[in-house]
Amino acid sequence: MIYLKTDEEIELMRASNILLGKTYAEVAKSIRPGVSTAELDKIAYEFIMDNGGKPACLGYEGYPATLCTSVNEQVVHGIPSKDQILKDGDIISIDSSIELNGWHSDSAYTFPVGEVSPEVMRLLKTTKEALYLGIEQAITGRRLGDVSATIQNHCERAGFGVVREFVGHGIGRDMHEDPEVCNYGRRGNGIVLKSGMTLAIEPMITLGRRQILVEDDGWTARTIDRKPAAHYEHSVCVRNGKADILSTFDYIQEVLGDRFI
Ligand code: MF3
Ligand code: CO
Repeated sequence: MIYLKTDEEIELMRASNILLGKTYAEVAKSIRPGVSTAELDKIAYEFIMDNGGKPACLGYEGYPATLCTSVNEQVVHGIPSKDQILKDGDIISIDSSIELNGWHSDSAYTFPVGEVSPEVMRLLKTTKEALYLGIEQAITGRRLGDVSATIQNHCERAGFGVVREFVGHGIGRDMHEDPEVCNYGRRGNGIVLKSGMTLAIEPMITLGRRQILVEDDGWTARTIDRKPAAHYEHSVCVRNGKADILSTFDYIQEVLGDRFI
């Protein structure tokens, strides 16, 4: 069942997503070699609570933290830990969701830590480009497969792998709603998009092979070949002619300055 949102509901979802963007900016200020992923999680938890939000991942199907912090070969759902210390040359994907006034946000961003190799920077850039190219397809009258195929083609043309096991999704009162938004597919396939549909679009892209496994903790997904993976995500509302991007990287950009790609 796909729920179309009213304009009022879209503004509530935007408010939730703006708080999430500001939370990521607070986290970004502390991303550097020597910081632990548990420290980043604490920063996010306190900022969300101070601003009247509910960390929606915390307790979701038993998930134990506010943030998902996925480092290097970890693709998604990495669990923050005081023993996981970032070092120069790492990348870290931060993914989370907030419930604010009954409405969910969802966004993800992969940060370089210190100086990262050109090959890995190209992975980050390509994944972010794929996200925005996919969003360009999230307009009234297009089909969901147009979003999926656009993301897949951009990343595979660049020589990268497209993860199959995790997908984007509808979002709203629930963190995960219909439909599933695959990062692979065929143009012209899938449901026809309608104004007011809200989608979390989230390419998860690998430098090497696309195959992944889930670690024994039951959450952490990593590449089997242990090569790095990137993950960027926006929540968007389908509109005529141009999607409305509800989440934002603007606050992250303010913190990163000329390190923002
Ligand atoms: N944005 C993530 C997702 O859609 C949020 C995961 S929260 C978790 O999968 F609790 F499931 F980890
Ligand atoms: Co998501």
